[in-house]
Amino acid sequence: MKDDVRKYIYGTIVVFLVGVFIWLSIVYVSACGVTLSCNQAAQPVDRTPIPTLIPATLPAMDMSNGQQAASDRDACRVVATDLVGAWVSANSPETDSFQFVDANGNNCEATFADVEPLFNEPNLWNPGSLACVSCHSVDVAISPAQLDLSSYAGIIAGSRRADAESKGTDILGAGNWEKSLLYDFLVTSKADVPGHTEAVSFASFVFAGKPLPVPTPTP
Ligand code: HEC
Repeated sequence: MKDDVRKYIYGTIVVFLVGVFIWLSIVYVSACGVTLSCNQAAQPVDRTPIPTLIPATLPAMDMSNGQQAASDRDACRVVATDLVGAWVSANSPETDSFQFVDANGNNCEATFADVEPLFNEPNLWNPGSLACVSCHSVDVAISPAQLDLSSYAGIIAGSRRADAESKGTDILGAGNWEKSLLYDFLVTSKADVPGHTEAVSFASFVFAGKPLPVPTPTP
């Protein structure tokens, strides 16, 4: 009786092991064939994965982006409000250039084109900042403080304008930056107007203008 049970157990184990062996053999033979090297598993070599010659039909490499980046690096690095301030202090020229000293102490030169993005582009004052024009848009009827910052003419025309034709309050302090409404609303007491805190951060650097040539010292 005891021996019978033992026989059954051993028998089952042996049948199981033989089954596993046969099953593995079938899997091996079907995948590899009757060989020990199993070279069927190796991938057929059709072509080398990396082309050794670049086809001459490709368009010539566009290097303009690289050059752009290089000229960005040559630009002056300046705190955004300092750049606006230098422009206001130079009586806010539309096309003439104005000078400023950048954060590295270089004498630099820029034009309104360098200042304008600070009014009409997002993410310049800080990541996620709104563009001023998203509130102070061209339509003075709906623009907060009836101020249109979308163009040079709009900035010069000022705030609290009755309509698109009329002039309003000068926001540039007649060239006195620290007395200007712009300074007040960007840097000092009114800088926490709803919208402005989200719009600006006061020590954000921008790249603008270009360094003036260093004068060669006369002996
Ligand atoms: C989210 C909307 C919003 C954004 C963005 C915004 N502003 Fe304003 N701004 C306002 C509101 C609202 C007022 C009006 C506050 C008041 O009536 O006292 C205002 C007022 C001003 C004033 C004062 C005008 C005056 O006569 O009182 C100036 C200057 C100004 N903003 C400049 C800017 C500049 C520059 C930017 C971009 C850096 C900017 N604003 C971005 C909403 C915004």
